[in-house]
Amino acid sequence: MDQIRIRGGRPLSGEIAISGAKNAALPLMAAALLTERRLVLSNVPQLADIHTMASLLGQHGLAVEKLAEGGRVLSLGGAVTSTEAPYDIVRKMRASVLVLGPLLARTGQARVSLPGGCAIGTRPVDMHLKGLEQMGAEIQLEAGYINARVRGRLRGASILLPVPSVGATENLLMAACLADGQTAIANAAREPEIGDLAACLRAMGARIEGVGSERLVVEGVSRLGGAEHAIIPDRIETGTYACAAAITGGTVRLRGGRLGHLGALARTLAEAGVEITEEGDALLVRRLNGLHGADVMTEPYPGFPTDMQAQFMALMAVAEGAAMVTETIFENRFMHVPELNRMGARINVHGASAIVRGVRSLSGAPVMATDLRASVSLVLAALAARGETVVSRVYHLDRGYERVEEKLAGCGAEIARSHD
Ligand code: UD1
Repeated sequence: MDQIRIRGGRPLSGEIAISGAKNAALPLMAAALLTERRLVLSNVPQLADIHTMASLLGQHGLAVEKLAEGGRVLSLGGAVTSTEAPYDIVRKMRASVLVLGPLLARTGQARVSLPGGCAIGTRPVDMHLKGLEQMGAEIQLEAGYINARVRGRLRGASILLPVPSVGATENLLMAACLADGQTAIANAAREPEIGDLAACLRAMGARIEGVGSERLVVEGVSRLGGAEHAIIPDRIETGTYACAAAITGGTVRLRGGRLGHLGALARTLAEAGVEITEEGDALLVRRLNGLHGADVMTEPYPGFPTDMQAQFMALMAVAEGAAMVTETIFENRFMHVPELNRMGARINVHGASAIVRGVRSLSGAPVMATDLRASVSLVLAALAARGETVVSRVYHLDRGYERVEEKLAGCGAEIARSHD
């Protein structure tokens, strides 16, 4: 298993190219199931999760071809020959459940393994299933699988999501594009990745209104065509490297980063003493003077993203004063806390909140990655720590951060990957 070794204490300086957004790419790839024509996606990030989605689509019968730049441009298309998403693939990546809506809409049936829990919480898919049932699907759960079928086409429906789930919004949006009649999705998630999915679906011929708002209205069409679509830059990768610049007291240009996609994160970083300015197609991030404690609560977009909570906590670990970090989206997303505390942080968890009392400096230690964002928070802490940190189980990082060690080393970090 790979490990990452980091010797901390060097302010980062230089430029980092932001990759395409993983969480936009995954539903966009699943959208290829909606048409027999070719969908060509560019700015595809090179990540383990993308390979997992490509193999799942391959198993459904689609041809997935790398057109350029080692897979950064992907062509997807072809006949659906299997409507089963097996446990062996779904257990590796929960986002596999995004094939459910498209498969059902295009073929009238789908058999998709239930994703089960994961390190950060139980993560049910009840809203995905309930919405599809409202659209006329018959769904049974049997032997760990979701068995779904519909006689004829799915029907338009009026769906109210109890909470704005990203995945449920995406699954239902894709299914609604090929349904008979109008579907309204109220309390829809508004993440930029959903806007990106809607833009691509529209280019394929879908009729969608209300993009960017909490009510999406879709007029179903009988078929969708192909399209070419460039994936938006990854706002979580952007935020993560902004925290890396800040925690080391450096200055970094994030090429491709979009300020408008950062939501509450940009405001919170400013409150903590981190300046972010737009410079052409890049964001320039630098720490002004000292870092100050700032309280955050995770919320659906445009609120503070749960996917930035761990990284922001690493930053607060070395800020002056205290910060309260409250997690409202997932029930078990503080697994980075004991590892950060082993590096000298002073963090106490009380239920869904953590009090972070800033310390002068952290010290390197052997630490273990537990999930994607928790692992990158340990990398950030290590960049600021005295001495050496060895992060093990970095396969979590590889699911969502492309060439993390190369990007950081390019800005002067002392970081290297080794094989255990
Ligand atoms: C997506 C992101 C993930 C991010 C999360 C929240 C992808 C591939 N993943 O995950 O990185 O952390 O949004 O921003 O885009 N819930 C239910 N029932 C459901 C669906 C969700 O109870 O049917 C709950 C979840 O357990 C969670 C909350 O709703 O507590 C939000 O989850 P959701 O927005 O669906 O997250 P994902 O789409 O899984």
